[in-house]
Amino acid sequence: MSDTQPAIIVVGSINMDLVVRVERFPVPGETVRGRSFITVPGGKGANQAAAVSLSGGSVSMIGRVGNDIFGSACLDNLRSKGADVSGIRIDPDAPTGNAMIAVDAEGQNELIYTPGANGKVIPQDAEHATEAISRADMVILQFELPMETVCGVVDLASRLGRKILINPAPAETPPADLLKKVDYLIPNETEAERLTGIKVQDLQSATQAAENLLRQGCKQVIVTLGSQGALVHDGTAVTHVPAKKIEVVDATAAGDTFIGAFSVALAEGKSLVKAARFGCAAATLSVSKLGAQTSIPTRGEIESFLED
Ligand code: RIB
Repeated sequence: MSDTQPAIIVVGSINMDLVVRVERFPVPGETVRGRSFITVPGGKGANQAAAVSLSGGSVSMIGRVGNDIFGSACLDNLRSKGADVSGIRIDPDAPTGNAMIAVDAEGQNELIYTPGANGKVIPQDAEHATEAISRADMVILQFELPMETVCGVVDLASRLGRKILINPAPAETPPADLLKKVDYLIPNETEAERLTGIKVQDLQSATQAAENLLRQGCKQVIVTLGSQGALVHDGTAVTHVPAKKIEVVDATAAGDTFIGAFSVALAEGKSLVKAARFGCAAATLSVSKLGAQTSIPTRGEIESFLED
């Protein structure tokens, strides 16, 4: 890793996304005709790693793929984005994780995730990278890996004194003591509700959810709010960071793009609010394109968008 770039470790999922565009989602038992079909490298962890790299950070990814064509395509793609993939193991027994995604005419998505090799990631996979983790500016995790693995890696990163960012996605309830070790918790509305029981539907309820999460032990909370941007709570002050309006093609990986860009900006020394603004700009740009890692903007694109 270069000394001049933020060094970020992502421990997380790697998927091949099978994406179908539809006019509208089918109801149970119904067949609808797809408009188009593509395969796109995805997975929350890999998307966040790609977003770190494209935003100007140095990123190492830890995870697993299967010994199959999806796995090698995902690895090649991450390499092409500049990520260090030496911490990704090829699992001999499980297929590469995948997500079947339907995207409707409004750009909203429905998603079925099958973990495959992601479900085989164990804390020891990260222990092999202890040296790199001990030098990292930030360690990022999500909830697409087994929860015991997330907890084990958080314990390791915490023992090594690293900053820990958790994106609690997909929505799951973690053990109570996990949140106490988190420096930056970044849920969306659904995930915030899952963790707090508070239905997030406006800035007031997002603030209440953030306050609840701070009481549970997280040090700083950013609730992402889709087209409304993000709500930042640093433990004292609450700031709403709005998002610019843009035509939505596909919202897949918008949250992942926010997290990658946000973490680079923060590790470069920007304030929490400025980093969230950078993350929001990246996420907004990502929804204008179809697919996960096909939609993540470069740092130059983010900076130009912020200047407009
Ligand atoms: O956050 C978006 C991602 O969630 C997709 O790329 C898909 O793989 C699922 O993991």
